[in-house]
Amino acid sequence: MFDGTRSIDDKAIAMTYAQLLKQTSGELERFGVPNPEQEAWWILASSTGRENSQLAAELALPVPAAVGKKVAQVVQERRGGKPLVYATGETEFYGLRLKVSPAVLIPRPETEVLAAEILKELDLRAGRNLPFSILDIGTGSGCIALALLSQLPNSFAVATDISKEALFVAAENAGALGLSPRIQFVLGNVLEPIKAEEKFDVIVSNPPYIDSSEMESLDDSVRRFEPNLAIESHRGGTWFHREITRLGAFRLRPEGILAFEVGNRQAKMVARFIKKTGFYAKPQIFYDLFGYERVVLVRKI
Ligand SMILES: C[S@@+](CC[C@H](N)C(=O)[O-])C[C@H]1O[C@@H](n2cnc3c(N)ncnc32)[C@H](O)[C@@H]1O
Repeated sequence: MFDGTRSIDDKAIAMTYAQLLKQTSGELERFGVPNPEQEAWWILASSTGRENSQLAAELALPVPAAVGKKVAQVVQERRGGKPLVYATGETEFYGLRLKVSPAVLIPRPETEVLAAEILKELDLRAGRNLPFSILDIGTGSGCIALALLSQLPNSFAVATDISKEALFVAAENAGALGLSPRIQFVLGNVLEPIKAEEKFDVIVSNPPYIDSSEMESLDDSVRRFEPNLAIESHRGGTWFHREITRLGAFRLRPEGILAFEVGNRQAKMVARFIKKTGFYAKPQIFYDLFGYERVVLVRKI
């Protein structure tokens, strides 16, 4: 019988899920984690590989030792301030369950807006069944490319990153989602690894966009746990956007879409230099869920 005094580790097998849930929530609350009850659910669901509803139906069952151990480990990591997504090693993006490691940026809801706006633009033109070719630059966990492929059943993607470790994570995610046959991963700097003759219908990027001078003002949790390589840029945080705009013009098919996620107060600047190149039509700006200008999307002339 659970007596509430022992640690999760040595009592794991003798506990039910309901008891472990209560204990986990109590521990998280003591560490000052906001929403401890909800987080305890997520940790158990992730550690068991179950959906919340499934877990709810199994609350009276005993917890296997391996699950108890995993939960204890996640709780310890949360105590040290590690973001929940890195502690559990997974997250959800555009309805897909994705593996995440400290080598990749945590996929954000803002980035779902980027994927959604590209899909809307493709819907306006031709519908989702055409075989679009997509280039995702700085793919990280693969979230953008995989979300697009999951909605575009006949499309193909090339996903690049300068981090080999990130590409391993993205490739594992593609495999788990059954999307490997429709995506190719390429290691390299921005557009350098893409052959000159390769042309795309969509070039998308959520590149690093925090200017070096602003790195110090980032949230402590971002600075401590997320990879610098995924965050830091130059020229007011828009170096990657400029480079991809310039070089991407030669890799996009006519009418092709260029779409970026941008940092706060960057959208108008990015739209201005896109326009100035003369290669593109009028850029559109879209807002994220918090009301910030977050996505710039444009069509090649
Ligand atoms: C902001 S993260 C975005 C990751 C993912 N696409 C997302 O939306 O969550 C930027 C990504 O760009 C990659 N990156 C940084 N410098 C790069 C470069 N010079 N060439 C290609 N990728 C780069 C980082 O490794 C990182 O995975």
